[in-house]
Parts: sequence; C-alpha cells; structure tokens
Amino acid sequence: MRSSGFVVFIFWLLLQGESFLASGDREIYLPQELSIEDQCSEYCFSVVKLFFDHFIRSKVASDANGDLKNKIYLLETQLKNKDEEIKLKNQQIADKDEQIKREQFEAKINSSEAEIIKLNATIEKNELKSSRIIDLETQIKEYQLQLNNKTEDIKAFTVRIKLLETETNKSRDELISTKEEIEKCHAKIKDQEVEIKHGQDQLAIKEGLLKAFESTVREKESQFKNLTSETELLRGKYEASSCLPFVNSTNVHSIRLFDTDPFIVHCCSNVSGSGWTLIQRRVNANENFNRSWTDYKMGFGDLRENFFLGLEKIHRMTLLQPHELYIQLQDVNGSTRYARYDDFKIGSEEEAYELISLGKYSGTAGDSLTKFQLNMKFSTLDRDNDANVKRNCAKMFGGGWWFSACGRSHLNGNYYKDGTCEVRDGIIWATWKDYDFTISLTFSQMMIRPKTL
Ligand SMILES: *[C@@H]1O[C@H](CO)[C@@H](O)[C@H](O)[C@H]1NC(C)=O
Ligand SMILES: *[C@@H]1O[C@H](CO)[C@@H](O)[C@H](O)[C@H]1NC(C)=O
Ligand SMILES: *[C@@H]1O[C@H](CO)[C@@H](O)[C@H](O)[C@H]1NC(C)=O
Ligand SMILES: *[C@@H]1O[C@H](CO)[C@@H](O)[C@H](O)[C@H]1NC(C)=O
Ligand SMILES: *[C@@H]1O[C@H](CO)[C@@H](O)[C@H](O)[C@H]1NC(C)=O
Ligand SMILES: *[C@@H]1O[C@H](CO)[C@@H](O)[C@H](O)[C@H]1NC(C)=O
Ligand SMILES: *[C@@H]1O[C@H](CO)[C@@H](O)[C@H](O)[C@H]1NC(C)=O
Ligand SMILES: *[C@@H]1O[C@H](CO)[C@@H](O)[C@H](O)[C@H]1NC(C)=O
Ligand SMILES: *[C@@H]1O[C@H](CO)[C@@H](O)[C@H](O)[C@H]1NC(C)=O
Repeated sequence: MRSSGFVVFIFWLLLQGESFLASGDREIYLPQELSIEDQCSEYCFSVVKLFFDHFIRSKVASDANGDLKNKIYLLETQLKNKDEEIKLKNQQIADKDEQIKREQFEAKINSSEAEIIKLNATIEKNELKSSRIIDLETQIKEYQLQLNNKTEDIKAFTVRIKLLETETNKSRDELISTKEEIEKCHAKIKDQEVEIKHGQDQLAIKEGLLKAFESTVREKESQFKNLTSETELLRGKYEASSCLPFVNSTNVHSIRLFDTDPFIVHCCSNVSGSGWTLIQRRVNANENFNRSWTDYKMGFGDLRENFFLGLEKIHRMTLLQPHELYIQLQDVNGSTRYARYDDFKIGSEEEAYELISLGKYSGTAGDSLTKFQLNMKFSTLDRDNDANVKRNCAKMFGGGWWFSACGRSHLNGNYYKDGTCEVRDGIIWATWKDYDFTISLTFSQMMIRPKTL
C-alpha cells in the first residue's frame, strides 16, 4: 500500500513539478509551530509522512552537496508550496466534502421536507377530509335538523290534513245530511203531491158520488112525490072527495069522487080559510088558454102554475054537494080583489056544462057573473054555445067561458103581462075596472069548497 501511495504521490509531484521546484532557493525550513499532522490533512498525511520521513533522511545525506543543497531547498520550498497547495486542496476537499455532506443533508432535508410536505399534504388532506367530514357532519346535522323540521312540518301538515279531513268529513256529512233532508223534502213533496192527487181524485170521486147522490136524492124526491101522489090517490080513494080533509094545506093532493078514479088537485088554504080546491089559475103567459072543447072538458095546464081543472071534474064535484066559489083577482099594479058566490054548480056535458047556480055574491071585485053569465052554456073556439047569434065569442076573444052575447067577464082570455088588451080579448072582470074592457088582469084564481052547513 505504501508503495502505491508513493507512486501516486510521485505522479502527482510530476504533474505539479514546476511550482514545486521553483521554491528551491529558499532555506529549507520546517515550520516548528505546525505539527506534520496539522500541515497535512489526515487524508494525505499517512501517504505523505513516509515519503516525507524518507525525504528528510535523504536531505540530511545530501547536505554536503551545496548544489544539491539548493536544489533540495528549492525542492523544499516547492514542497512547502505544494504542502500549502495540498493544504489548500485538502481544505478544498474538506470544503467539498463538507459541501457534499451539506448537500446530502440538504437533500435529505429536502427529501424530508418533501416528505413532510407530502405528509403535511396527506395530513392536510386528512385534515381536509376530516374537516370535510365535519362539514358533512354539520351539514348532516343541519339536514337532520331540517329533516326534523320537515318531520315536524309533516307532522303539523298531517295534523292539519287530519283536521281538514275531519272538517271535510264534517262538511261532507253535513252535505250528505242536507242532501238527505232535501231528498226527504222532495219525497215529502212527492208524497204530498201524491196525497193531493189522491185528495183530488178522492174529491172527484166524492164529487161524482155527490152528483150521483144528488141525482139519487132527486130521484128519491121524485119517487117520494110519486109515492105521495099515490098515497094521496089512495087516501082520496078512501077518504077525500075534496080539499077539506087537507086542513091548512096549500099543496097538491089527490081526491076521489064516488064515481071517478082518483085525481090530483091543488088545494089552497092561505087565501080565505082552509080546504079550497083550485079549478082555474092564471099567473103568467106560459099557458095557452085558446083551446078546444075537449081540452076544457078534460082540463089542461100545470096545477102549480096556469091550468083549468076540467069541466067534467067541476061538474061532478059540484053535483054531489053544494059548493062555494071564491074568485081572487089582481091587476098589473098589484091590487087584489075578490068575488065570492055561495052556491056554485055547473051542469053535465049534455048540458054543455051550463052555469046552473052561483048563489049569493059577496066580495070586493063586483059581480061580473050573475047578470050575464049565469045560466049560460060553456063555449070554446070549436063549440059555440053563446048567446051571440052572429059571432063565436070564444073564437073572437080566445078561451072558453060561459059566454052570453059575450058578457062582463072572461077569466080564460089571453094573458097580457102589461095589463092591457084589445077590447075583451084579455082576462076581463068588468065590474072591478068600470067596464073598461081593455084592462086585462095579471092574476086570477077560481076555487071551490063544499059548503059546510
Ligand atoms: C433543496 O431545496 C432547495 C429549495 O427548494 C434547493 O434550492 C436546493 O437545491 C435543494 N437541494 C438539493 C440537494 O436537492
Ligand atoms: C403544513 O400545512 C399547514 C396547512 O397548510 C401549514 O400551515 C404548515 O406550515 C405546513 N407545514 C409544513 C411543514 O409545510
Ligand atoms: C327549524 O324551524 C325553526 C322554527 O320554524 C327555525 O327557526 C329553524 O331555522 C329551522 N331550522 C332549519 C334547519 O330549517
Ligand atoms: C273521513 O271519511 C273517510 C271515509 O268515510 C274515513 O275513511 C276517514 O277516516 C274519515 N276521517 C276522519 C278524520 O274522520
Ligand atoms: C113518477 O110518475 C111519473 C108519472 O106517473 C112517471 O113517469 C115517473 O117515472 C115516476 N117516477 C118514479 C121515480 O117512479
Ligand atoms: C089550521 O090553521 C088554523 C089557523 O092558523 C089553526 O088554528 C089550526 O089549528 C090549524 N089546523 C091544523 C090541523 O093544523
Ligand atoms: C098561498 O100559497 C101559495 C103556495 O104556497 C103561494 O104561492 C101564495 O102566494 C100564497 N098566497 C097567499 C095570499 O099567501
Ligand atoms: C095602475 O096605476 C097607474 C098609475 O097609478 C094607472 O094609471 C093605471 O090605470 C093603473 N092600472 C090599473 C089596471 O088599475
Ligand atoms: C083563438 O084560436 C083560433 C084558432 O087557432 C084563432 O082563429 C083565434 O084568432 C084565436 N083567438 C084569439 C083571441 O087569439
């Protein structure tokens, strides 16, 4: 090893030769204050020392020789310079080492730093992460809060919804109940309509029934009248031969004479006592009195209005027993008068129903019969029995009567509502109206009654 180091040194010396030799003219001087170790860096020391020691020994040997001495001195100086240089170089090497070391360290530090940075970055990352986690957690918390709030809200909404539902249900229930009530009302109205209809039908039925009933009543009335008539007929058959038994009655009754069938008469008890039988009546112009002999014989007209009972009946009635005659009269002004005869009788058809008897007159109308009509036969338009040789009084003045040469009375003349007529053709009772033959009476009734002794 020593030899290889030496060879290196020689090599190095050859390279540095010039400067090493240039320092030779100075005294070889070995600095005492610096140890060899100090003069040489530890690096070169071990290498150079051997050589150096050898060199010193060689110097000493060659001192004798001045040239050599100078040369050595030069060499020594050069060596010294070289030492310096070595020292410098060593220093430089050390510096370099130092620098290398420092750079290494720095690199280490740099790498450490990088690592730290890396780590810090990691840490930071982690921190970031954790902060993010925290953030997230916070957010989650907030979200939870919000969620809670939402849950609360939802709860509140649920409650509200429930409330609304309840209200809706209530409203719906009310609506339903209202609807039901309306339906009930409709049903009721319908029922009532039906009832009304029913009532109307019932009413119609009732009306029908009433009408039927009324007609039945009318029929019954008619039947009753018929029955009454029949009863009267029967009663007349066995009891009545005049109106006398029908005391105080002014109505129709049936009488029967000994030799006739029962017939109906109109009794009058409200004019001059009870029991009069109407034989003639004039109240209006509804009946025509200008009729034939047969009509006057059999009678005609309506017993309750205008009629003539019939000469045959009157004859038979007056034949049996003495009768009174009562004549009631009224003029157009409403005044009434009467004429009464106490023994009225007419003959048979063979006698032309002659007015046989009148009896004694009494009354207010005057006697318009006795003087000209007594003992006269009955005349009609078709049976001229009067005393007028030239004319038929009945035909001239209309209606049948006991005409003479016509006479002072004619109660079967034409009816004039206004109470005036052509001469003699009206309802005449001349003694009342001072023989004014143009005054026609508007009411007359002739009635007879058996004389009670
Ligand atoms: C260390 O880092 C510094 C600054 O970043 C840089 O100037 C230097 O050259 C680095 N050293 C090494 C050995 O990488
Ligand atoms: C690590 O990072 C934090 C935050 O960025 C910074 O304050 C700190 O100085 C860094 N440390 C190093 C050694 O780079
Ligand atoms: C939750 O609700 C309360 C009251 O309504 C409100 O003050 C609060 O800000 C809400 N919070 C959130 C996170 O929405
Ligand atoms: C509302 O009515 C419906 C149907 O009848 C029923 O299902 C529901 O429970 C009712 N709600 C309330 C709050 O009464
Ligand atoms: C009543 O008598 C008349 C005449 O006699 C007759 O036409 C009528 O049918 C009778 N009425 C009744 C209901 O018997
Ligand atoms: C008839 O009428 C008279 C007078 O009004 C009366 O006194 C008499 O009692 C009545 N007779 C009958 C049977 O009704
Ligand atoms: C008598 O009775 C009849 C029928 O009831 C009536 O029309 C007449 O006016 C009455 N006469 C008198 C004088 O009362
Ligand atoms: C009815 O009365 C009027 C006026 O008082 C009179 O002019 C007329 O002659 C009267 N008629 C009869 C029939 O008495
Ligand atoms: C009565 O009747 C006959 C026959 O119809 C007629 O010629 C005569 O003129 C009538 N007399 C009166 C007064 O109306």
